[in-house]
Amino acid sequence: MSATSLEAASTTAAVKRSLFSASQSSIKRLRDRFHQVRKFTNALSAGLEPEDCVVQSMPDVSPTKWHLAHTTWFFETFILKKFAPGYRAEIPEYAYLFNSYYNAAGDMHRRDLRGLISRPTVNEAQRYRASIDSHIDDLLSSADENLLDEIAPILVLGMHHEQQHQELLITDIKHVLAQNPLYPVFRSGRARHSVRVEEQTAMEFRPYQFIDFEEALIAIGHNGDGFAYDNEGPRHQALVPAFSLATRPITNGEYIAFVEDNGYKRPEFWLSLGWMTVNEQRWNAPLYWIKRDGVWLNFTMSGLRPVDQFEPVTHVSYFEADAYANWAGARLPTEFEWERAGLSYPIEGNFVEDELFHPAAWHRHPADNHGLEAQATSDRQLYQMFGDVWEWTRSAYSPYPGYRAAPGALGEYNGKFMCNQYVLRGGSCATSRTHIRHTYRNFFQPEKRWQFTGIRLARDPE
Ligand SMILES: [Fe+2]
Repeated sequence: MSATSLEAASTTAAVKRSLFSASQSSIKRLRDRFHQVRKFTNALSAGLEPEDCVVQSMPDVSPTKWHLAHTTWFFETFILKKFAPGYRAEIPEYAYLFNSYYNAAGDMHRRDLRGLISRPTVNEAQRYRASIDSHIDDLLSSADENLLDEIAPILVLGMHHEQQHQELLITDIKHVLAQNPLYPVFRSGRARHSVRVEEQTAMEFRPYQFIDFEEALIAIGHNGDGFAYDNEGPRHQALVPAFSLATRPITNGEYIAFVEDNGYKRPEFWLSLGWMTVNEQRWNAPLYWIKRDGVWLNFTMSGLRPVDQFEPVTHVSYFEADAYANWAGARLPTEFEWERAGLSYPIEGNFVEDELFHPAAWHRHPADNHGLEAQATSDRQLYQMFGDVWEWTRSAYSPYPGYRAAPGALGEYNGKFMCNQYVLRGGSCATSRTHIRHTYRNFFQPEKRWQFTGIRLARDPE
């Protein structure tokens, strides 16, 4: 072998080595992230008793056990069954029990009957999780470049899917525990972020202001840098006329003024469908509020406690958000207005990692940058755009121009829900900080209120 060909051979070997180590390091990153997400789900449910984990308190709510198993089913169905050579499901019936809504992946058990399933037990669901995790580990350790290219995007989608279910696990168990007259405590960690009473009363209560935005042509949607759901694209230009946006979400104290002004009894503020719902459901306050001896209390993940007037109001439906806005002489923002305003703010705030599981008053925020020292400049900037409460927008959840759902089962993830729902933005105290994006579009039907949903007002130019 000549010196030149020796040199070439050693270069090829070096390239191969570096490709190998590149793929090894990306496999390690993927695997670490996978385990981090999976462990966080386990940690969230760790304080619950098996009896807590099987209850379904309404059709929208899934038992904790179902969340544990369904998120696992996702990896088994879309990765192991497709890509792991010779993989055979240990319990093939789980494919039916733990499919949620993917018609292309086969038949599924009825959603509203999930609470009737006492087997598999919670322990068996946890064993299912551990078994699938180790199969994923095995698959990753034997994966070559080509396989990695195929499975990495699905693995990442599965992790984001699991983070969505972590949020549902929290809002669902809150609804379950709220049915119990003993008002069980999920976590009693609220004190960590509380302030002393004397400090609270000394705090100046600042009304929200409106910040003006000029008309502008802006790029809406995800720019393709990193992970995003398909419903955040295609990125496109949109003309956003001039508008104003409130500096922070509406607080409980402000919402009580609407309640006490007979807001729930005055049809002039309500959409027709909303008015029907209010009367049918006999709503007179947000979900989880009860009045005892003239005092408003609300059920939180830390038990029943007096409504805190400074916290953002939450567990309101689109109908209530819209009625409040009408009462206040304002309106809800469009999702394009929200995205435009939110783009210049970092994704910081009170998220699930703070383990508060409840929205925080802006001046008592766990994130320091939203703390007391910012109070002086509060009229000129937006607060709590991310975390605390999802903010209802007046935009119907519909496809962006040029959107096409992907073919196959995973194309069922978002596209088929683009009917009769409204977009919410910004994430909540139950959302992962690593899950939310400026372009993230959450969506719910207008009567739903068991998520941490709140209100930020917008206005047209005077
Ligand atoms: Fe799911």
